[in-house]
Amino acid sequence: MKIAILGTGYVGLVTGTCFSEIGHTVTCHDSDETKIDILQSGDLPIYEPHLHDLVRKNRDAGRLFFTKILEDAVEPSEVIFICVGTPPLEDGDVDLTSVEMVSREIARVSHSYKLVVEKSTVPVQTGSWVEKTIKLYGPKGIEFDVASNPEFLREGSAVEDFLHPDRIVIGVQNHRTEEILRELYAPITGRTFNCPIHQDCRRDEGAVPFIVTSISSAELIKHASNSFLATKISFINAVANICERTGANIKDVSYGIGLDRRIGKSFLEAGIGFGGFCFPKDLQAFIRISEKCGYDFRLLKEVERVNHERISQVVEKVKSGLWILREKTIGVLGLAFKPNTDDIRFAPALEIIKRLMKEGASIRAYDPKAMERARTELPEVLYCQDPYEAVRNADAMLVCTEWNEFKELNFERIKGLMRRPFLLDGRNLYDRDTMLRLGFEYIGIGR
Ligand code: UGA
Repeated sequence: MKIAILGTGYVGLVTGTCFSEIGHTVTCHDSDETKIDILQSGDLPIYEPHLHDLVRKNRDAGRLFFTKILEDAVEPSEVIFICVGTPPLEDGDVDLTSVEMVSREIARVSHSYKLVVEKSTVPVQTGSWVEKTIKLYGPKGIEFDVASNPEFLREGSAVEDFLHPDRIVIGVQNHRTEEILRELYAPITGRTFNCPIHQDCRRDEGAVPFIVTSISSAELIKHASNSFLATKISFINAVANICERTGANIKDVSYGIGLDRRIGKSFLEAGIGFGGFCFPKDLQAFIRISEKCGYDFRLLKEVERVNHERISQVVEKVKSGLWILREKTIGVLGLAFKPNTDDIRFAPALEIIKRLMKEGASIRAYDPKAMERARTELPEVLYCQDPYEAVRNADAMLVCTEWNEFKELNFERIKGLMRRPFLLDGRNLYDRDTMLRLGFEYIGIGR
């Protein structure tokens, strides 16, 4: 099938590349010409495991193209995915300008039937606006269908999530649309593609659930999923607060809760809070959407509040160990909002660093992938070439992202390098007793 991807950001690039990997012909467009230049030169504007190899492979195979001309993407394609950015506005609303503009452009350049699929995360009922816009601006006599197909890709494992999803959700208005989307996803739902990343490709797990709903329900599934996951994280962080006050251990508590299959083990890691460009933004948007339809979603407001509180709590913990921060040096390990990505948008680490610097601390930092991006936002930080450099002469070491390489550090060496072996483990990576035995002053989260 021929597909156009409009908006080659994180979601668009992963989606387009993976569709080409399972055999479709995909043309990706972006209004940011620099991004297309980078992609056409064979590079990637973001870091995401496996993506570079797949882009290269599918371009070479003649199944994946990048263009600056929207018409070149839309014209030959039957299915058009809208993957443009939907950034937050000051009041928490979502800025849908790009969705509208791209809908008008699709209408303007189409000369044959198109199925327009919204993949960008949008408020419920955006689908009907897209439809109205296309019908209003499109040529008479050309048929269009509109559908919603929310994405559930986690940064850092997006390729894997695309190829092996828990479910595929489509919101449609008619049978024709459902059939096209079923065919498009058939290699994934039937697990018939050759998996480029796994040897044993979960073929024995049966078909991937393919959920067909109305467009509004599909749109809501996306916001409700992210809000629920954020709620789980704030819940466990609130329980961690109780653990700290009672001497219980959040690791044991999470494990004990998570074994109940109705609750599930994932997203029960207490830490410095959630970040990234999805949870904080989608939570706010869902609160606003609810407000607009007359419901005060106070539960989600509390989820946000608990998450904001994490930052102050970490800063207080550093101060509880170091007392005055002026003229103290803190070595920060991890800047990205989570491991396996270079994304620092709404990363808790950056917020914490800003607060520590405001109180006079000097920051040395290391992250395997995110330093280049962080440098633009926090030029005052001293960026180091490895974790050991970051803790040299430091009065404290603060772990903000659970990169695998931080799990296997040489702590004898670290202790020797630090001015004072004070370790704040913001992601509960280390065993407390081992750290105490090694002579560290150790503070974790919720234990
Ligand atoms: C999230 C969702 O997990 C995806 O399903 C969704 O498609 C995506 O948003 C999106 O809307 O585009 P992502 O933001 O990449 O994906 O990252 P997550 O793995 O969900 O983590 C989000 C934040 O929660 C991170 O800062 C992470 O450190 C934090 N987290 C996660 C915790 O603090 N504790 C946990 O137990 C899990």
